[in-house]
Amino acid sequence: MDLGIAGKTALVVGASRGIGRAIARSLAAEGAQVALAARNREALEALREELGGRSLVLEADVRDPAIWPSIREQIGAAFGPVDILIYAAAAPDRPARLPSIQTAHWEEVMATDLTGFWRCAAAFLPGMAQQGWGRVVALGSLMGALGGFSEGAYAAAKAGLGGVVKTIAQEYARMGVTANLVVPGRIETERTAGVSERAQEAMRKAIPLRREGTPDEVAAVVTFLASIQASYVTGAEIPVTGGRELGLLSL
Ligand SMILES: NC(=O)c1ccc[n+]([C@@H]2O[C@H](COP(=O)([O-])OP(=O)(O)OC[C@H]3O[C@@H](n4cnc5c(N)ncnc54)[C@H](OP(=O)(O)O)[C@@H]3O)[C@@H](O)[C@H]2O)c1
Repeated sequence: MDLGIAGKTALVVGASRGIGRAIARSLAAEGAQVALAARNREALEALREELGGRSLVLEADVRDPAIWPSIREQIGAAFGPVDILIYAAAAPDRPARLPSIQTAHWEEVMATDLTGFWRCAAAFLPGMAQQGWGRVVALGSLMGALGGFSEGAYAAAKAGLGGVVKTIAQEYARMGVTANLVVPGRIETERTAGVSERAQEAMRKAIPLRREGTPDEVAAVVTFLASIQASYVTGAEIPVTGGRELGLLSL
């Protein structure tokens, strides 16, 4: 299947590790020019060395509203307008029941997971509309639909992300731009490391496929959604969960 990604310009926000890094690798392997954004410059430089000259490092903190015009200019100067926008950034996890969530944490999660996506999309959608083609994929969470025990801020931000994605899908459909939310289940990354073997075993039991997913398994779905082949998919929430949301029924 020709994905038609070769020669396209992609921006991956949250590319320094985990799922975002796997997506950047996958898009680059399909021949895209990939701009890599996150705060950890060293990790981005290491990825750029791996990917070669058709990638660009953009050290950026998505909580800062002022970064987007400069990011757009840097990508424009290096590769031209952005065709594919992937938003995988998420603030570090700090589990707490609702009354105990610190205001600073709530605001960090909203700024990183939700407001950052809105600002980023707002920076690149007019260009996509002008060229009559674009792909937007954001990384959601099952908690966005189901809520999250001790993860109230994260669940709220991810639910909001779905609202923004579906709004983009409606507002930009006529301009050839699609927007979709990929919803990972339990994926092995630094984010999910540090859980005891016993807790992991209990989690696996609630997953029909009986294992965590890998970043590459999420990247494969995102890459398809970023391709010319996904032209009739928009406003969708695509689970990559091993069936986790069905888990209670299939124990
Ligand atoms: N892993 C899972 O099981 C799972 C499940 C459901 C959903 N997801 C979602 O999938 C996405 C990727 O997950 P992951 O496990 O790969 O997460 P991760 O390991 O926590 O990586 C998060 C990424 O976001 C970047 N980031 C965080 N704060 C930032 C900021 N202020 N400015 C710029 N970049 C920032 C990080 O880079 P720097 O620290 O270098 O800035 C990193 O590249 C996230 O949106 C997450 O919510 C993951």
